[in-house]
Amino acid sequence: MEAIAVWSGWIATAAIALAALVPIVQRIRAGKRAAPGSSPIRLHVLVGLATAALAFVHTMAVLPVLGSPAAIAGGLFALLPAGAAFFLLVAHAGLGLQLREPKLKDRAHKRRMHTTTAVLIALMVAVHAVLLIRAG
Ligand code: HEM
Ligand code: HEM
Repeated sequence: MEAIAVWSGWIATAAIALAALVPIVQRIRAGKRAAPGSSPIRLHVLVGLATAALAFVHTMAVLPVLGSPAAIAGGLFALLPAGAAFFLLVAHAGLGLQLREPKLKDRAHKRRMHTTTAVLIALMVAVHAVLLIRAG
């Protein structure tokens, strides 16, 4: 069970990085943002949704080991950011799904929120993983 808890965490982390890379690489290569309905964004949405599903799988996978020495060793500050990351990921997916609408009002604001939540998710996951690794 422990192994599944750790592996699912790393798979979810890799998926977050992969999801973020799609629009970032596209922007660097083309010099501008991909249009909402374009193939890079469709790929991004697919990977993004898979990311949310994988984070959910990880959250379910850790439930049976939440009381284990490995899980507790990181302390509360290893688990608090994990809960925050999961919460933010749901909000982030909601914003992302709205951003698919080409005529969306308030696009600039929602895009900024999508980017801000992406940065916060990455930070929270980093704290979560580093504290757990340091705890051994
Ligand atoms: C965005 C969501 C999340 C990501 C990307 C994530 C990522 C990770 C990673 C990379 C690890 C492995 C760390 C290591 O090598 O020791 C891990 C372990 C763990 N995560 Fe998460 N996590 C997330 C959400 C959560 C949530 C919501 C909880 C539960 C409150 C949680 C609880 C744990 C526990 C208990 C472990 C340690 C398992 C063990 O060592 O047996 N995680 N997570
Ligand atoms: C959960 C499903 C997701 C959906 C439906 C989604 C949807 C979108 C859409 C439609 C755009 C284009 C917005 C626009 O140009 O107006 C976008 C951009 C972006 N997304 Fe997502 N996304 C999701 C998940 C993620 C994840 C997991 C990350 C990384 C943590 C991420 C990071 C980004 C970034 C960095 C951009 C570029 C923003 C910019 O160019 O200003 N997204 N997303």
